[in-house]
Amino acid sequence: MIPGQKVLIHGAAGGVGSFAVQFAKSAGLLVAATCGSQNVDYVRSLGADRVIDYKTEDIGRAIRDWSAEGVDVILDVVGSTTLPHALDMLRPGGRLVGILKVTADGDIERDRKEAEGRGFRKITFIIDFERGRDSMREITNLIDAGLVRVPPIEMLPLEDAARAHQMIESGHVRGKLVLKVADL
Ligand SMILES: NC(=O)c1ccc[n+]([C@@H]2O[C@H](COP(=O)([O-])OP(=O)(O)OC[C@H]3O[C@@H](n4cnc5c(N)ncnc54)[C@H](OP(=O)(O)O)[C@@H]3O)[C@@H](O)[C@H]2O)c1
Repeated sequence: MIPGQKVLIHGAAGGVGSFAVQFAKSAGLLVAATCGSQNVDYVRSLGADRVIDYKTEDIGRAIRDWSAEGVDVILDVVGSTTLPHALDMLRPGGRLVGILKVTADGDIERDRKEAEGRGFRKITFIIDFERGRDSMREITNLIDAGLVRVPPIEMLPLEDAARAHQMIESGHVRGKLVLKVADL
């Protein structure tokens, strides 16, 4: 992306979204980001230019007010059912990037065709540690330089693995949970 372009990050308070907001800002992008009311200050502290509280605001209207022509890219790390009119928020030729989830997220192929039919690109993203090696190095440099901060990490003992899963299933963990297996 080019500095000055606009991105919407949907699900900005989670582990992936917290990094995404900061990466986008460090790349010179203008960032709108969604989260629940309890995370508005947190997401603003990550650098988002426009924080949209999805519990009290209409995301589509908020984006139209922020950028009448739409955004260049939407990164959705929550799921298509929570962002039903995503294509309407893109400017012509824009890209909708989804993240491959362990749970079902609609009909990916149908959504891709619909996006293409309207002149957009729908990309589904998955981490690739081999191809991502250079990106990982870049990320480490950003963290070392203090330009990106690691999101909050809550450490739980291994015995609490079931509780950790329940917390993740709730869909409202801020940052990441880590299970402590042993003292190293
Ligand atoms: N394909 C891959 O390579 C890959 C890699 C990593 C993760 N993933 C997947 O990516 C997804 C995101 O992972 P994650 O670790 O960032 O966290 P997560 O635990 O799935 O997401 C937690 C965050 O989602 C936010 N959220 C929940 N409902 C929302 C809504 N309706 N609108 C906006 N935000 C909402 C919550 O914020 P609020 O509390 O403010 O609502 C919370 O901070 C997961 O499904 C994960 O499985 C895929």
